[in-house]
Amino acid sequence: MKRIGVLTSGGDAPGMNAAVRAVVRKAIYHEMEVFGVYQGYHGLITGKIKQLDRGSVGDIIHRGGTMLRSARCLEFKTIEGQKQGIAQLEKYGIEGLVVIGGDGSYMGAKALTEHGFPCIGVPGTIDNDIPGTEFTIGFDTALNTVIDAIDKIRDTASSHERTFIVEVMGRHAGDIALWSGLAGGAETILIPEAPYDMNEIASKLKRSQERGKKHSIIVVAEGVMTGSKFGAIIEELTGFDTRVSVLGHMQRGGTPSAADRVLASRLGAYAVELLLQGKGGRAVGIEQNKIVDYDIIEALAKPHKVDQRMYELSQELSI
Ligand code: F6P
Repeated sequence: MKRIGVLTSGGDAPGMNAAVRAVVRKAIYHEMEVFGVYQGYHGLITGKIKQLDRGSVGDIIHRGGTMLRSARCLEFKTIEGQKQGIAQLEKYGIEGLVVIGGDGSYMGAKALTEHGFPCIGVPGTIDNDIPGTEFTIGFDTALNTVIDAIDKIRDTASSHERTFIVEVMGRHAGDIALWSGLAGGAETILIPEAPYDMNEIASKLKRSQERGKKHSIIVVAEGVMTGSKFGAIIEELTGFDTRVSVLGHMQRGGTPSAADRVLASRLGAYAVELLLQGKGGRAVGIEQNKIVDYDIIEALAKPHKVDQRMYELSQELSI
């Protein structure tokens, strides 16, 4: 394979630029030509494609967001859209494509694979919800953003003896809430993957108050309910002075952490290695600190699992 493309798709994530950089530099190192597809699958369909050189990805490893831009593209869910995308790739003589994104982006990569076009999925999303990899690019940086916010909120919560609800992203997954809640010492964490009882949560808050703990931080994953809805119920059940912080899209930004830069570099480079070997229809990931690859179609069939033992630990440590 002498000519490949790379695109970023779906919600952007810190570290995507490091992954793009690794794809471009690894490809050029192995005397391949590499083309950037701008604005995700929308840019693929409309031909927003430009050859990249080693300088194109200079000075971006430390920058959040994605230099290739991203977009959500309903048209690529259609056979017609997928065929238009492949026609564009063939017009530029591109023989394989690296897709950096989340589960929606993997669906597009799966479609290209099913049309016989070699594609490699690189897990780039803050949600950490891609089956087959322990971590996704952007997750670590998002965690650090959230715990920075929790630490700041804890200052004012203790000053005013308030109960704070912190709503975090993650779409249908609870990884951001669980890991940031554990790291931030949250008194209660709500995730879509675990049952919860509002009355029990309220009773626990009251018991804490009785023990003299006058403030609490509760982390709610957006996939469970909105922070404002949760806060209203808790205020109703306890009568406590509550406030809600919805962290929103700041979790998607910021300079990527070292962990995300290294993960992105390893995964982006390995994606190119697979294309060099003429492989397609694969996704790359990390398991027990080993870089792995697996069938992208099988991957999408597997459910995402949150670490239940970690969830139990968070329960134990917030007694
Ligand atoms: O998938 C990443 C993510 O940030 C989710 O956690 C969140 O629910 C969603 O994207 C928000 O999508 P948008 O940026 O289109 O509002």
